[in-house]
Amino acid sequence: MTVTPRTLVRWKNEHRSIVALTAWDYAIAKVLDEAGVDVILVGDSLAQVALGYETTLPLTLDEMLHHAKAVRRGVKEALVVVDLPFLTYQESPQQALRSAGRVLKETGAAAVKLEGGYPAMAETVSVLVRAGIPVMGHVGLTPQSVHQLGYRKQGTTAAEESRLVSESLALERAGVFALVLEHMDATLADTISHKLTIPTIGIGAGSGCDGQVLVTHDLLGWSDRQPPFAKVYANLRNSISEAVRQYGDDVRSRRF
Ligand code: KIV
Repeated sequence: MTVTPRTLVRWKNEHRSIVALTAWDYAIAKVLDEAGVDVILVGDSLAQVALGYETTLPLTLDEMLHHAKAVRRGVKEALVVVDLPFLTYQESPQQALRSAGRVLKETGAAAVKLEGGYPAMAETVSVLVRAGIPVMGHVGLTPQSVHQLGYRKQGTTAAEESRLVSESLALERAGVFALVLEHMDATLADTISHKLTIPTIGIGAGSGCDGQVLVTHDLLGWSDRQPPFAKVYANLRNSISEAVRQYGDDVRSRRF
């Protein structure tokens, strides 16, 4: 079954949880799609986890398009959402329209994700939505604002909590079809999830969200550093290292 932004909104009403993971290449995207993942996010965590940058900030739109095309080729059913990289949309709604337009035209993905709340982002979201581009929002810990917010948990004061609730409502009014809530208290994420009619997708925000997303490399125990909230289901780093060592031994001893 092909998943669309409308499917996700319907699932919220049916209390069916959304399963989302990241992918940056054809091979992983194909495995995730075949394993029944609902949303495949070409996240800009690509910059740190796969490309080795310190933050997500250096990633360019061209790099993102390159990876998103590969992911799209591996996916038959999941909804593919592509992150707009830092400073490819914050300048103006027109800049966002040009960047998001390239994503949809050149990669075949069906939606974009952008970070941040109101007032600027709500205006940008409504311009994209009016142009027919589905947008996923992202509030809480927003890694593109690392130099302002750090990587700390968000919504830890009453003022921050009420700002996050207002931003979420403003993004919903602007037309996002789903909202990522990153690294915030589970009670706050739960409150936001109940106030919104669109689904929330949590990462480090408790199990009260309408779905969950993780960086696939974190879930597989493949990343060299993991966020504190990641749940690890395998130890691929060790498996890969062990397999490579065995191969090295075989080659050096001419067993292979
Ligand atoms: O870039 C990313 O991977 C994200 C997360 C929400 C998983 O935005």
